[in-house]
Formats: sequence, C-alpha cells, structure tokens
Amino acid sequence: MSAKLIMGTEIREEILEEIKKEVEEIKAKTGKVPGLVTILVGENPASISYVTLKIQTAHRLGFHEVQDSQPADISEEALLALIDKYNKDDSIHGILVQLPLPKHINEKKVLVAIDPDKDVDGFHPINVGRLMIGGSEVKYPPCTPAGIQELIVRSGQDTKGAEVVVVGRSNIVGKPIAVMMMQKGKGANSTVTVVHTATKDLASHCRRADVLIVAAGVPGLVKPEWIKPGACVIDVGVNRVGEKVSAKTGRPVPILRGDVDFDAAKEIAGSITPVPGGVGPMTITMLMKNTLNSLKFHLGL
Ligand code: GUN
Repeated sequence: MSAKLIMGTEIREEILEEIKKEVEEIKAKTGKVPGLVTILVGENPASISYVTLKIQTAHRLGFHEVQDSQPADISEEALLALIDKYNKDDSIHGILVQLPLPKHINEKKVLVAIDPDKDVDGFHPINVGRLMIGGSEVKYPPCTPAGIQELIVRSGQDTKGAEVVVVGRSNIVGKPIAVMMMQKGKGANSTVTVVHTATKDLASHCRRADVLIVAAGVPGLVKPEWIKPGACVIDVGVNRVGEKVSAKTGRPVPILRGDVDFDAAKEIAGSITPVPGGVGPMTITMLMKNTLNSLKFHLGL
C-alpha cells in the first residue's frame, strides 16, 4: 500500500487564496490591509532567503510589506528602538525579527520587546502563555505548529481521542504542537505523548501513534517498523545531507532529507508529508494568516 501524500505545496495555495480574498474584502470595507515588517540583522544567506520569501508572499497577498535590513553590528539598544518604532506604527500589524541574531544581541530581550499583539511569530512569552491556556485566548500560534495542524485538518485526519506522539521537545515545534494537539477543539482533542532524547524506547511509543509528528532534526530517525499501519505521519525534519546541481539553474542546491525514512514509511503509513514540500511551505503561510488575524484584531473585526 502506498500512503496518501499530504502536499504542503498544494494546501499552501489553498490557504493563500483564502487569505488574499479576505484581504480584498477587508480593504474594500475599511481601506486597511495587513502590514508586516521583517527585520533582518546582518547577511546570513539562509536568513536573507527566508525573509525574501516572506516579503514576496506578503506582497502577493496585497499586504503592506516592509523589509528592514540592518547591519550586523547594530547595537542592541538601536534594535530595541527600531522595534519600538514599529510597535507604535499603526500601519504595521506584524513584526518579525529574523533569527538567529548576532551574538552581541540578547535574543530574549529582543523577543519580549515586540508588542505581544503584533508578535505574529508567536514567540513572546505572553503568546506562549496564551497558547497554553488555549481556546479564544490564543492569538498567534507559532507558525510551524499551526501549519502542522492545518495539514492534519485539511488532509481529513480525525484527531479526537487519537493517540498523537510528538518526537522532539523544542520550544518552536515539539512543545507547542503537543500543547495544541491536546487542547479541546478542531484538529486537536488528542491524547498526546512527547518523546525525546532521554526516552527509553522510542520505537514502542511511535508504534502506538495514530498521528506521528516528528521534529527531532535527525535524518531518517524514524524507521518503517516504528509506524503503525495506516498512521498519519508528519515529518518536520529538514536536514541538509549533501548538495546536488539543480537541473533548472545549474547551481548547487542542498539535498534535503526528513526525520522519517520516507521511501519505506510511505508503504506503511496511511498518509505522510514529503520532504521537501510537506510541512516546509506551511510556516510562511501561517505567518501570513497570523498577520491577517492581527489586522482583524486591531480593527475589532
Ligand atoms: N529563523 C528561522 N525560522 C524562523 C522563524 O520562524 N521566525 C523567525 N523570526 N526567525 C526564524
């Protein structure tokens, strides 16, 4: 049996179209559009390409978008002042400071300086607390976990009472997705287990999972015999395992591999996300959704 592929590339287009339509409706009614600023410090090539993609996507949806590039030696004080400027700017509803930051800047101090009501990354402790409380308290769920939940819902997977096993306990994926899946509500209401590097028998936990979410950062960690037949497998891993020459551009591009042994796993799972093209495209999509929701919140809609 070959599993159904959960294509993030297709689900992304579906959601972006929904956002674009809503942006047009709100603009026609109020004259306002969502405003997103991305603050990039320094010239890390991966960060530049992420920020460029975020800004291009925001532009495509009709957002007001600002890309604010700052030199790598900007002082912490100047960066905090810049954030304060955008906190007070009524045309900006989402503020994103691209991570990682240079070593002389305290990342925690920067993240708490962002107005929690404009924190579309969902990294501010207030938004982490709101996520923990759940329900209508949640304003900005972190983008990758929110994307995972959308993939689960839109692929038709039932989660009520399901055994969900999360592999990994990071602050940006493992912990928040575990909390989200155990809350009451759509695409959740599950029985959740979190396993990690100190877990004694990873395989036996994974084998119980109706929905297996893997965010370990270890290429090919999950073997086919760890998967319950028919399970939904969400692979969050994006591991660079080498380089190849792109047939399109003739330039070297990374070879990406997930945390799941995909070729073997797809013969056992009921549904599975590919790498690339599964979870990856969803992160920026959910950033756009959070920014639209911030506009709605600020307009009282
Ligand atoms: N760096 C890598 N991923 C992210 C992200 O989702 N948000 C921010 N702010 N920085 C990142």
